[in-house]
Amino acid sequence: MTNRTMTVNKVAKIPQIFAPLLKSKKRYKLFYGGRAGGKSYAFADSLLLLGRMKKLRIACMREVQDSIKDSVYKLLQDRIKLYELGDYKVTATQIINNVTGTVFIFKGLQEQSAANIKSLEGVDIVWLEEAQKISKKSWEILDPTIRKAGSEIWISMNREQENDPVWEAVGAHPDERTLVVKVNYTDNPFCPEEVRYLALKCQRDNPEDYEHIWLGAPVSAGNCKLISYKSVREAMTPKLWNVSAPLVIGLDVARFGDDMSVFCFRRGRICSEFRCFSHLDNVAVANQATHFIRQYRPARVFIDAGGVGGGVVDILHDRGFMRIVRPVMFGAKALLDERYHNRRAEMWDELRQWLESESGAQLPDDTQLCGELCAVNKKYDSQGRLQLEEKAEIKSRLGRSPDMADALALTFAEPVFDLGDSFYDKELRENSLESMFRARKPDCNSW
Ligand SMILES: Nc1ncnc2c1ncn2[C@@H]1O[C@H](COP(=O)(O)OP(=O)(O)O)[C@@H](O)[C@H]1O
Ligand SMILES: [Mg+2]
Repeated sequence: MTNRTMTVNKVAKIPQIFAPLLKSKKRYKLFYGGRAGGKSYAFADSLLLLGRMKKLRIACMREVQDSIKDSVYKLLQDRIKLYELGDYKVTATQIINNVTGTVFIFKGLQEQSAANIKSLEGVDIVWLEEAQKISKKSWEILDPTIRKAGSEIWISMNREQENDPVWEAVGAHPDERTLVVKVNYTDNPFCPEEVRYLALKCQRDNPEDYEHIWLGAPVSAGNCKLISYKSVREAMTPKLWNVSAPLVIGLDVARFGDDMSVFCFRRGRICSEFRCFSHLDNVAVANQATHFIRQYRPARVFIDAGGVGGGVVDILHDRGFMRIVRPVMFGAKALLDERYHNRRAEMWDELRQWLESESGAQLPDDTQLCGELCAVNKKYDSQGRLQLEEKAEIKSRLGRSPDMADALALTFAEPVFDLGDSFYDKELRENSLESMFRARKPDCNSW
């Protein structure tokens, strides 16, 4: 036996991580993880080995088996050929060991009739392949049927959802009769070089898929994302552009002191910059906004007005920026109420469309922004309208609020048409209460 593999009968080598298949006595042995962890090979080799040592009845099962070709029959047959195990005979429906009398049978769980189930009663070992596909109903029939003393259920799976039935029943809360082992391609000393290359390529190009396909993370963490990693990376690739579209600023105001206040600057297809400030009070944020408005003369500033942002809007309105500064309530009814759960979902979906549009989009190359944009899961409310997952959930996963992404989403609050500077002079001439106070003579200052 080497460090990483053990030699079986001087021919088959099984990665060490699978040693408990042969050596430990457990009712449930669950191996889960991403592609190419060596699960199928190790299960096949271990079962062939055990079947040569004593008479066993082994059932190889999956949820659906339209033909024996769908099963691990072919893999077992290949291993028998490779190792020249002359004691095994492969028939059209079974594999039989002529010396010990071991029999492998192959069945689909969904096709289980009462008679079929009877055939499972004397089984010593069940191998459930692709167990993430097994339904709750199938599991509930199978589990109590495997009742012979010392019988074992071997499970190989790549988790699909958080709550795959077999995972829930066996893997989620293992007891002393249950073995749960995570195994990935990185644990497989036989993982072919080409496969390793594919895994690393996927890690680079599509980290979310990588988590699921190669590291065995359930998909719910990946596939229900509103915005794809690919579209964000694409937008972060530099392109030479010049736009004359009006400038729109999105401002996400820090909520509870722990988040940042973020200004996002976007002109049409180009989001050029984010300016982030922490620990600013409302007046300081409003001052910063005033400075940006005077300097860059945006057509609109959209501010998240739920919570403390409302105060910032009030100050800016008071300073005369009534038409430039627009409050946005994330929780308010969407403009397209029949499609979106609220304004937040609507703006984020506009952002998604902007990113995916044929004409392209440009974002600053920023890892934090990328992480935030790709963090948000979508769902659908009872009326079938698009809804985003709660901020608190995103925050607990991301470790922070998606402030930059929210600021960018705010720039999509309403369509902005190019009005040039037409109303600027007028706005800025308007007197604000604040400027009136500032202009007061010192002797009037009685408080
Ligand atoms: N014992 C072994 N001997 C030789 N090659 C192996 C062995 N185990 C795994 N491999 C190689 O690793 C690849 C992935 O193994 P596999 O069992 O199909 O993984 P999984 O079932 O976890 O997806 C196989 O296609 C094979 O090339
Ligand atoms: Mg496999």
